[in-house]
Amino acid sequence: MFRYIFSASLLATVFVMAPSHALADEKSSVQRGKYLAVAADCAACHTAPNGGKSYAGGYGIASPIGSIYSTNITPSKKFGIGNYSLNQFKDVLRRGLRADGAHLYPAMPYTSYARLTDQDIADLYSYFMKDVPAVDAPSPVTALPFPFNIRLSMAGWNLLFLNAKPFKPDPALSDKDNRGAYLALALGHCDTCHTPRNALMAENENLSMGGSPLASWYAPNITSSKRAGIGGWSSDDVAQYLKTGDVPGKAQAAGPMAEAVEHSFQYLTDEDIGALVAYIQKIPAIENSGSVNKSQTHAREAYGQAYSVESTLRGAENVNLEKGALVYDGACASCHQPAGIGSKDGYYPQLFHNTATGSIDPSNLVSAIIYGVDRTIGQKHYFMPGFGKQSYAEELSDADIAAVANFVLVKFGNAEAKITEEQVKEIRNGGSKPLIGRVSPYIKPFLSGLLVLAIIILAYLVRLKKHD
Ligand code: HEC
Ligand code: HEC
Ligand code: HEC
Repeated sequence: MFRYIFSASLLATVFVMAPSHALADEKSSVQRGKYLAVAADCAACHTAPNGGKSYAGGYGIASPIGSIYSTNITPSKKFGIGNYSLNQFKDVLRRGLRADGAHLYPAMPYTSYARLTDQDIADLYSYFMKDVPAVDAPSPVTALPFPFNIRLSMAGWNLLFLNAKPFKPDPALSDKDNRGAYLALALGHCDTCHTPRNALMAENENLSMGGSPLASWYAPNITSSKRAGIGGWSSDDVAQYLKTGDVPGKAQAAGPMAEAVEHSFQYLTDEDIGALVAYIQKIPAIENSGSVNKSQTHAREAYGQAYSVESTLRGAENVNLEKGALVYDGACASCHQPAGIGSKDGYYPQLFHNTATGSIDPSNLVSAIIYGVDRTIGQKHYFMPGFGKQSYAEELSDADIAAVANFVLVKFGNAEAKITEEQVKEIRNGGSKPLIGRVSPYIKPFLSGLLVLAIIILAYLVRLKKHD
């Protein structure tokens, strides 16, 4: 009898508690989804710069074949994803398929997000549907030139390059390393920037994190190679870089990496940063693939020393260096100091033992000069004005930038690296373009149609091969 009453009251409690349990579950799913959206940096692309509304789209992503605009992913039913079911949302992240069945361009990194677990996709969905305010405004339309405006051609691309498999922990790795791999390859999608791509712009998985050009910038080799990668960095260095983008005596984050640190990595828990660092430091070294890795003689952060301006200027016979010294004096020395030692408090970084000046590929040095550095971490704003067109600072010509960059390379950094005026011009215009972009403006639509056909036929053959 007593037992009966007891279990009845227990049952009653369960009944009363059930709805609030469900509510708590829903709340924690939304909260987990919010953290995941930050870790996956959805806002970086889906929010327009300079005060665009969160997740309302409109960020133009420069691609070699034209700008691709991110879309409104707020739960607006008219302009956003308010009508997406969980399964449709899953199809976007895993297969690059829009709800209307159209193929998305791989500027949406679904090749990385395909590795997300079911649980994480469900949590992301709860967050976007229940916590993100709807914005009832359209995002700009992407209009690529023919044949890339045929979204179906992406189907061929996907057949070749999308291996949509949710992440499975490797039993040979520790839980921590598995979490790190998941963060690096699925959520943080480090590979979309740091892994080199083939002629069709698909990632070359055999060269994971081996370094890749990224429009005007260069996402360096971050494998464990002591010479070509970051094998010489301590785990604290890597952690600090991901948390703040600033490791004095080694590197600062500008450009796309600054955006990733600002919007995403600085908010990761210490535990997740620890896991990420543990995994990154175990990535097999990539030493000699590609000209940049091959010709990097010493570790990027190993170069340079402070020098005395007077003695060098007096001895400078090279006209270009003299011009570079003048530009440096006028445009850089006030912050980085005449001797390149930066400021005492480290806010203005030293230019020697600095990966941007020690790399054999000077893209990041030149891009930092053109676009500046703009990164907010917590309350701290790291800011260097750019000397390109949109700057309030005095604009520097291509010749000035080449001169000052060569001066900085010779005096503080990697003297083997050289930069020409033409290269500066190219970097200003978006960097050297992968093959597909470089040829597209020149080949007639007929030829490019053939190219797409070739891709589709190739894809078909690959599939046939898989089947027999
Ligand atoms: C590197 C940039 C980038 C990141 C990061 C990114 N997206 Fe996208 N996303 C895009 C672009 C660009 C498009 C539009 C592509 C097109 O038009 O083919 C898009 C399209 C979408 C769509 C399709 C919406 C529609 O119907 O048009 C959804 C949903 C979406 N993204 C969700 C997400 C979520 C969720 C995340 C984070 C987990 C995310 N995106 C992160 C660039 C990005
Ligand atoms: C959107 C593109 C992008 C993403 C995503 C990205 N990176 Fe980077 N990363 C870059 C670029 C570009 C640089 C060079 C920045 C500079 O020198 O100012 C860089 C620099 C670095 C450096 C410093 C290397 C050096 O020699 O200075 C490390 C370490 C690094 N990234 C690690 C990571 C990790 C780990 C992830 C994922 C959690 C990641 N990055 C995601 C683009 C990216
Ligand atoms: C108004 C001050 C200021 C001026 C002028 C200035 N810088 Fe900087 N510079 C900075 C700050 C601030 C940073 C970023 C520090 C950080 O991220 O921690 C920086 C970063 C850099 C970096 C590292 C970028 C990277 O991607 O790793 C280089 C290289 C650099 N500056 C070179 C130059 C050169 C060359 C000039 C002159 C053409 C110049 N700076 C002018 C303040 C300045």
